[in-house]
Amino acid sequence: MDIRTLINKLWNSPPSDVFMAMKKRLLRRDHWNYSIDILRSKKHMNTVYLIDRWERLLRIIDNQYGNENNAEEKFKSKFSFRNKTILELGCGPVLGYAPLAIYNGAKEYYYHEPSLVRSVVESNEVKEKYYRPLYNELRSNYGEKMSFDIFYEKIITLCIPTNFERQDSIDLIISNSVLEHIPRSLINDILSSLFFVLKVDGYFFHSVDFSSHGIGGKGFGSMYSSNRKKEWEDLNLFRMSEMVNLIEGNGFNIIQSTVYRTANIENESLHESWKGYLNDDLIAKTVLLVGSKKLIR
Ligand SMILES: C[S@@+](CC[C@H](N)C(=O)[O-])C[C@H]1O[C@@H](n2cnc3c(N)ncnc32)[C@H](O)[C@@H]1O
Repeated sequence: MDIRTLINKLWNSPPSDVFMAMKKRLLRRDHWNYSIDILRSKKHMNTVYLIDRWERLLRIIDNQYGNENNAEEKFKSKFSFRNKTILELGCGPVLGYAPLAIYNGAKEYYYHEPSLVRSVVESNEVKEKYYRPLYNELRSNYGEKMSFDIFYEKIITLCIPTNFERQDSIDLIISNSVLEHIPRSLINDILSSLFFVLKVDGYFFHSVDFSSHGIGGKGFGSMYSSNRKKEWEDLNLFRMSEMVNLIEGNGFNIIQSTVYRTANIENESLHESWKGYLNDDLIAKTVLLVGSKKLIR
């Protein structure tokens, strides 16, 4: 990251997030720091944002797909959590969408998150400073569905690490800003494991952030002036077309890919290794990939 971008980033971020990013960088960890320090992260502790993001992303894909007059065609109904067994890839430090799903009637919630620290999730501090305010927010958004004690007990007992040996066991697979972080050497194995566990009539929903994640500036930063052949920080650098090919190559059927956000690129500084890509592929920044296991006609 160049010095201007670094100053910009420091200036625009809450001190707690700056502290955690600096700590990660100084310790040169190649994994995510999900220690009890996450309590200081405005991003991870933002209960309103979690709910709003889920509702917003569903609204976006629904508005791009389906028949206005047929509610069954809408993804919102397919992604209802009620009675579903869900798997979230890379759920982050505090179980990602799990609380939202549990509150709305999910049966079981599996996660595959190599950096999750279970003792942090189960700590009293996280219970009081995250799950309790999140419960209040859920109750206001969706009505009184259960008491806090039941909600919390379900989070602790129903949210467990994924067992990739249980074929056809999952109704919904979801991920938010994860696929772009999985190393190139692992991504096929992960996608094929996801295919194995998804039920024949199950669905997936991946939101993928193809930006530079702040490295070298906003949007794509200095990504396109670097050699794409090398993985970059913790990004695999696959573009939308490659991600689609990887997902379909592992047997999934993509029903809809929605380019939610784009960003400008500077064509003059494009590194040789990016020159074979279509412009649409290079400018796609946030992409929502929705699909199923079986072919839906
Ligand atoms: C940008 S964070 C997103 C976290 C969370 N989904 C969110 O939206 O806040 C990327 C996540 O991907 C996870 N991740 C990295 N490699 C992974 C892998 N091989 N399998 C599953 N998750 C992985 C990281 O541990 C990290 O939590």
